[in-house]
Amino acid sequence: MALVNMKDMLEHAYRNRYAVGAFDLVGLEFLEGIIQAAEDCRAPVILSLAESHFDHYDFELLMPAVEAAAERAAVPVAIHFDHGATLDSATRAINQGCNGVMVDASMLSLPENISHTKAVVDMAHACGVPVEGELGYVAGVEGENAEHHPGELVFTSVEEARVYVQRTGADFLAVSIGTVHGRLKGRPRLDFQRLARINDALGVPLVIHGGTGLADEQFGRLIANGVAKINYYTALSDAAAEAVRGKMDDDGGYTTLLHGVRDAVAQEAARCMRLWGSAGRAAEVLMQCRPWQPVEHLIIYNVQGLDEAGVEYVMAEGRRVLSTIPGVRRVFTGEAMKDRATYRYSWLVRFTSREVIDSYREHPAHKAFANHLFRPHAGERISIDFQETQPTLQAATNVEAESLRA
Ligand code: 13P
Repeated sequence: MALVNMKDMLEHAYRNRYAVGAFDLVGLEFLEGIIQAAEDCRAPVILSLAESHFDHYDFELLMPAVEAAAERAAVPVAIHFDHGATLDSATRAINQGCNGVMVDASMLSLPENISHTKAVVDMAHACGVPVEGELGYVAGVEGENAEHHPGELVFTSVEEARVYVQRTGADFLAVSIGTVHGRLKGRPRLDFQRLARINDALGVPLVIHGGTGLADEQFGRLIANGVAKINYYTALSDAAAEAVRGKMDDDGGYTTLLHGVRDAVAQEAARCMRLWGSAGRAAEVLMQCRPWQPVEHLIIYNVQGLDEAGVEYVMAEGRRVLSTIPGVRRVFTGEAMKDRATYRYSWLVRFTSREVIDSYREHPAHKAFANHLFRPHAGERISIDFQETQPTLQAATNVEAESLRA
């Protein structure tokens, strides 16, 4: 289980002056390429899924693969929801397994941006999930030519940044200091003095969007001034496209065309990891950052005063209502397979993290369901929250078992 708390991960990078790459992925080849690069470099990494890319893939279908890759990885991984537009989409991302979310309300006025961001922060923090806010406007569109989307670049103001972070409680701030999303002609001019003042004023990990197209030396100065997360996509997309073009004359099919994509993505991502100083940091991060662990909320119970149809109704209603609560990954309702079981029915509700234990209990939807439908009929019950056994404990147990056997 190599998923780690993203706040811990970025604070480690911020304290130790390197940046973690947040690579937007648009399919399995990208996912595998990014993980391959992180493992080759022994680097912590952020798998990033941008809401603006949801036209290209089905988020709910891709997320289980992203989680499986993160859990299998030998390096620390966080899963981030990039450029989230609404409170609902941020909630959905957390319930699908993201352990970091970005609120993109940078096109709104400062008071509107603050109130929108604050609503997402309140919801996400109740799930233990950190939030990245954005202030100022980074123009352009990921994967496209920047000059096709000129937009109006708005630089982040130091004073507004201080007010924004203080009022919203955002954990990281994406700043606008001259980068743009997408493919560039030449290098952008970056306002490093502004970045240094923002960093002095805030003291939180800063984020750069539009990482593609910057010079090596510019990355170094960004990191020296508080940037701990760099968002990167267009250059990966171009490397992948180049790999496909290189196969155009082959007479194979789809898989032939895709053959070099994973390695091309891996090569470019690895170049970034070495350049940004995250290469070689995996072991420290794994040791110093909290693992990201789900909690299983288990209830076993017997029912009084309800016939079978009534029990079925309560279960269906519970699955419908409880699964929309922030931080709830899955709601399972079950019935004992043996007639004479001591407890006949069960609920298994998976929380994304331990913080959800309290926020779930206090959530109005849970209270209404529990007080009016569930508890009146399920007087006889046992309820326990379980956290997955930690791999280190597991390892210790194996060692013990070995020595007992010897
Ligand atoms: P680039 O596509 O310019 O690398 O920017 C990526 C980004 O900022 C995603 O949020």
